Amino acid sequence: MKPHPRSLLGTDHLTVPEIEAILKLARRMDPKRAPQLLRGKRVVLLFYEPSTRTRTSFEFAMTTLITATSSSIEKGESLIDTGWTVTSLGADAIVMRHPSSGAPYLLSRFIPVPIVNAGDGLHQHPSQALLDALTITNHKKRLKGLRVVIVGDIFHSRVARSNAHLLSKCGAEVILCGPPDLAPDVAETLAPGITVCHDLDVALLGADVVMSLRIQKERLAGKQISLEDYIAQFQVTPQRMRLARPDAIVMHPGPIVRGLEIANEVADGPQSCVHEQVANGVKTRMAILATVLKAVQ
Ligand code: NCD
Repeated sequence: MKPHPRSLLGTDHLTVPEIEAILKLARRMDPKRAPQLLRGKRVVLLFYEPSTRTRTSFEFAMTTLITATSSSIEKGESLIDTGWTVTSLGADAIVMRHPSSGAPYLLSRFIPVPIVNAGDGLHQHPSQALLDALTITNHKKRLKGLRVVIVGDIFHSRVARSNAHLLSKCGAEVILCGPPDLAPDVAETLAPGITVCHDLDVALLGADVVMSLRIQKERLAGKQISLEDYIAQFQVTPQRMRLARPDAIVMHPGPIVRGLEIANEVADGPQSCVHEQVANGVKTRMAILATVLKAVQ
């Protein structure tokens, strides 16, 4: 079976007009009116991985929503059987997070309802990239021509991958930055307009947007770079931010490991948009659900 045509599995398959339509709709969304707009629709959340921001904002984006996290999954039911169960119960769409890359793609080949990927393994996190694009466009007129630096553990980051596809598609210059172990040169082949840089000071020169990503200490084990060297070379600090444009914005998808990938002064500073990103998550996910459920024309 082909995936439902309105499934949102990744940003690589989205067209620029589709991205723009979701952002336009998200800007119009009033979080308090969402239940009316999506009234009567049933969305099931299948979260096989913990989540705070993503899950809560999908929950706030809908009220008539069923959250199927525990019982059947814990009882060892297969993903496809769980998908069929919730579809037979009458779900209009499934929002799914899974630790295995590709899991929502697999399910979408068996289940006739749209699936929204809320993060799959190391692969894609399209709703995060869309809320990030909404946040950027609230501060900058357009994505085209912007210099966006994404710094951190690029290799393991579905946020980096989804953002790199979306932003390069929309004409931004995307610089993926980190030590060679975490930002391999091959990442340049993801899409046109993407470069890899192993020197944060060089990457930051003239940056319009600086997106910091979480570093999981355990992922540095066995890597060439030590934790101390990572902090010395790649932490986003107030000094380094002076290399970026004075009106540059700072982003982080969360959860933030303070004092590791980003200094407190930057995370809490005037250029930081991290709280705005979280707030935009609700509007963006309302727009995504409305699009997927065809609740708007
Ligand atoms: C991200 C994720 O889960 O991929 N978080 C999020 O959705 N806000 C990033 C991360 O966990 O580091």
